[in-house]
Amino acid sequence: MKLTILGGGGFRVPLVYGALLGDHAEGRVTRVVLHDLDADRLSAVTRVLAEQATGVSDAPEVSATTDLDEALTGADFVFSAIRVGGLEGRANDERVALAEGVLGQETVGAGGIAYGLRTVPVAENIARRVARVAPDAWVINFTNPAGLVTEAMSRHLGDRVIGICDSPVGLGRRIARVLGANPGEAWIDYVGLNHLGWVRGLRINGRDELPRLLADPDLLGSFEEGKLFGTDWLQSLGAIPNEYLHYYYFNREAVRAYSQAEKTRGAFLRDQQAGFYDEMKRPDAAALTAWDRTRAEREATYMAEARETAGAGERDADDLSGGYEKVALALMRAIARDERTTLILNVRNRRTLSVLDAEAVIEVPCLVDANGAHPVTVDPLPDHASGLVCSVKAVEREVLAAAESGSRATAVKAFALHPLVDSVNVARRLVDGYTAVHPGLAYLK
Ligand code: G6P
Ligand code: MN
Repeated sequence: MKLTILGGGGFRVPLVYGALLGDHAEGRVTRVVLHDLDADRLSAVTRVLAEQATGVSDAPEVSATTDLDEALTGADFVFSAIRVGGLEGRANDERVALAEGVLGQETVGAGGIAYGLRTVPVAENIARRVARVAPDAWVINFTNPAGLVTEAMSRHLGDRVIGICDSPVGLGRRIARVLGANPGEAWIDYVGLNHLGWVRGLRINGRDELPRLLADPDLLGSFEEGKLFGTDWLQSLGAIPNEYLHYYYFNREAVRAYSQAEKTRGAFLRDQQAGFYDEMKRPDAAALTAWDRTRAEREATYMAEARETAGAGERDADDLSGGYEKVALALMRAIARDERTTLILNVRNRRTLSVLDAEAVIEVPCLVDANGAHPVTVDPLPDHASGLVCSVKAVEREVLAAAESGSRATAVKAFALHPLVDSVNVARRLVDGYTAVHPGLAYLK
């Protein structure tokens, strides 16, 4: 089986390859093709993978190319993990937003819109190439903002593109753990958009155990979301929000912490990763060791500003490994081997949430088998959550429309309608600011 990874020179690729190395079953991935625009990044990552494969007799064969069609031809699965504009772009997303006093996080608020505006045209082009060159391939989209980008690609690929994120899985795992349950045996009642969802229940042996957690402040305060949101707020909500909702519920504090930080997340990662890729240019560098050190530092500092604002302290050791690769591998296995499983994924709504249309990509538990991912029926969201989901979906639709028409006015509308952008004038200046720094937005006229 051939797996193509777009953004194959990306830093997280060794996580995926590491997961593949642990799969020895029949029908596993035997060929990995890395595609990237940057040949130096490809060779850096290829070196790490070669070290990872040392001593593994059935390690998937790895090749690298900068030719998209060549990479896609014959692929059974395509992982799309690109970053349009690189980490410099992410840092600029943050900087321009902060200059206007709004959030520039890579997936939430103004930053997510800017990132979406430059990513959607590229992702759609990839989707068109896949439809042309590898029409039977399944595309697993990792690229952020994952829900929006998956929806853009689904316009060309239908249900053959599925978006993934590790945050709902991590959240479910943490809740199950504090309840003393095995995460694999729990049913997690979660729904929303990517980075905008809520756990409303967690069933073990047919019983909802979430009320037990919500009623116990000690238990509630003992894990990441309890620390991040505060036990009182979780009790008021009667649900456990995805960690990214911190940027909504504590927006002022988040903006302040970001503005006061010595470096924003994007700027930190830009510099940190540049160090890694530079080191890889030295022929004698120990690739895997350097990669692993860089990865550990990245994971330990994830969402540091948010945790600092909330006084949440260090991350739990158990939460350090994100788990993207595990979700991706589980999804790929379920499809390739028809091993039926349940995963929280980004798929088209169909009739799952009645407040959204059938084509809207949502994040929801799905049954997965050889026929793809099928969202399960869920209870409706409460009004405040439905309201946020509808507002943000409306913003995403303006981003898609702006990408299609190239209309600057539509891009302004996308920013202006976002609940975390508080003035149309701010939206106008954001479009000015972003188009001035991002060559990828030159299409907006
Ligand atoms: C979580 C999110 C991902 C995101 C990552 C960012 O895993 O679910 O969507 O890519 O964190 O981490 P970073 O280290 O880039 O800030
Ligand atoms: Mn995510």
